[in-house]
Amino acid sequence: MLRLAIEGSQWGDEGKGKITDYFAQKADVVVRSQGGNNAGHTIVYDGKKFALRLVPSGIFSADTINVLANGLVINPKALFEELRGLEERGINNYQLFISNRAQILMPYHIDLDGAIESKLGSSKIGTTKKGIGPCYTDKAARHGIRMGDLLCAQTLRKRLKEVLPIKNSELESYDLPAYDIETLYQYLLKYAEIFKDRIVDTSELISRSINSGKKVLFEGAQGAMLCIDHGTFPYVTSSSPLASAIPVNCGIAPKFIDNVLGIAKAYTTRVGEGPFPSELFDATADNIREMGHEYGTVTKRPRRIGWLDTVVLKYVKQISGVDNFAFMLVDVLSSVDTIKICTAYMLDGKRIDTVPSTLDEYQRCKPIYESMPSWNEDISNISKFDLLPENTRKYIKRVEELTDTPIAIVSVGPDRNQTIIRKEIF
Ligand code: GDP
Ligand code: IMO
Ligand code: MG
Repeated sequence: MLRLAIEGSQWGDEGKGKITDYFAQKADVVVRSQGGNNAGHTIVYDGKKFALRLVPSGIFSADTINVLANGLVINPKALFEELRGLEERGINNYQLFISNRAQILMPYHIDLDGAIESKLGSSKIGTTKKGIGPCYTDKAARHGIRMGDLLCAQTLRKRLKEVLPIKNSELESYDLPAYDIETLYQYLLKYAEIFKDRIVDTSELISRSINSGKKVLFEGAQGAMLCIDHGTFPYVTSSSPLASAIPVNCGIAPKFIDNVLGIAKAYTTRVGEGPFPSELFDATADNIREMGHEYGTVTKRPRRIGWLDTVVLKYVKQISGVDNFAFMLVDVLSSVDTIKICTAYMLDGKRIDTVPSTLDEYQRCKPIYESMPSWNEDISNISKFDLLPENTRKYIKRVEELTDTPIAIVSVGPDRNQTIIRKEIF
């Protein structure tokens, strides 16, 4: 298969970075298509750990072309600092291109994110406070500034003159200080100088690569349940992490997204607020959190923990067409005695097996579980499926049955090498 879309199938942090890095070694092009530096993708190789936010996980191979496509919201300062951090750690030889149609995440978006969250009080979303929502709001409202605007100083100044009065009145309504046009202009010119040679028409670049038979990997950010359309609205992010959104977010034909790998943890985590029917509040949750190092890459918040929910996985397959799953952090479940799988919900006395659309209904859903014994042994050095303990294999096969989807990859540790491939998909 020449193209592979990697999609988070829960509420984010499923291990997309690890799998993208694993396949990036075989890819000609790695593309990030949505989100911004709300993402935190951890990559471990040769004992070194990297946390990527905006930069695609193909950055470690010099021959790979990395692309930030039009669907992203890009904070140029954050991107610059992330690249500098990588360079300081010896990652100097890389290829990175940025879409001229991607939105620029401005300093006022960050101010507004914080102010809106405060105003919401106890109803807050629990955002990463990176300005993502306000930046996508400006895109939809047509008040955004795009990376391509950096390429012409005159256009940039004109654009700032058009949008800044609108933004300043919004800031004022939250009692936030206004921005001065000259300061923002100089700020953006600095990044224009730094990034100008990387800002291109990435739709053309990706399409050309595909048409000439190159291997292209699409690295998802966030997870399907955080999708602005199909997730647990309003407790979602402001873009669509679904594989089906890739064509629009990259400017390519829909037919090119023909191989979707859903990334799912062997349990479930969530950061931020919002419904989570299989959430645990007991010592098992604490145990899994510690064994899986379940603390946010971006915000360091402890992640909420729960059992695997196959209602969610089936729903995600329905809304985005998952062909195979990669089953991640399976090693972490060595530390529990009994594993539970949420296979349906009870809603007001009725059994349902799909995700309700309203928050109220989803919050009232109680999980229906089936249980299986764990394997209680270290599996992190096992490299073949057949060598896994019987109970691990049973768990994996049961999840395949419940989701009616093959598990092509089993991950038993954070390192590249701790990956069991059951089926070649890229
Ligand atoms: P992403 O946002 O989907 O890329 O995921 P994150 O990097 O935010 O979170 C996944 C975490 O799990 C990271 O700390 C990874 O290093 C780690 N990880 C990935 N796969 C495995 C695995 O199979 N076992 C263990 N123990 N850790 C893993
Ligand atoms: P990766 O790519 C987990 C969550 C936030 C919050 C909601 C909205 O590492 O999987 P935002 O800042 O996007 O407006 O926050 O979405 N969120 C994530 N949770 N992993 C992520 O990315 C996330 N990106 C956003 O915690 O609940
Ligand atoms: Mg993450």
